[in-house]
Amino acid sequence: MEEEKGKGVSRRDFLKGIGAGSVGAAVISTGLLDTPNVDAYPTEVAGPVRGKSAISLKVNGKSYRLEVEHRQTLGELLRDQLGLTGTKNGCDRGECGSCTVIINGRNVYACSQLAVWMNGKEVLTIEGLAKGEKLDRLQEAFIEHDGPQCGFCTSGQIMSGKALLMRNPNPTEAQVRRALSGNLCRCGNYNREVAAVLAAAKAR
Ligand code: FES
Ligand code: FES
Repeated sequence: MEEEKGKGVSRRDFLKGIGAGSVGAAVISTGLLDTPNVDAYPTEVAGPVRGKSAISLKVNGKSYRLEVEHRQTLGELLRDQLGLTGTKNGCDRGECGSCTVIINGRNVYACSQLAVWMNGKEVLTIEGLAKGEKLDRLQEAFIEHDGPQCGFCTSGQIMSGKALLMRNPNPTEAQVRRALSGNLCRCGNYNREVAAVLAAAKAR
């Protein structure tokens, strides 16, 4: 037990010294989040296997109790464990925004969050936007405005746009551009992506 406890402490120190820095970079690039308080993350959650912990979370309104590896990211949890591959993995290092999801109402990079940090959290992914066959208004607006070109960045762009509209239903163009500034589009289709978010806001 002492050994396990010691490991937990050193991991925490690692996160404070290095991991929190990379998360901070993600935060800065989205420009939307407060710097995470590492002390607030759970230190001990039940788990019989060394290097793994059991967590409870909600994804797209559905409750899960899962065992996750301590080194596993939220992006890996979503894509590999839950099969939710709408969340893309473009860089795996908090730079491109293709992995953007919404956690407790805020857009974050799934590649820059550890899965164990999701204990007790609510995660919304691109798969959670449509209601059955009915697409979310923002998804429809992306289609109408040719938002997707190659489409690789699209789910991340939509999730950042969705998070903006959740907290500000009538954003200005400047606010939309800022909200999407953490989402890179290698096709350079920014004007249409911004137009889609503005159109979705107007449609409300
Ligand atoms: S895959 Fe997460 S920011 Fe690029
Ligand atoms: S549509 Fe191709 S990367 Fe954005």
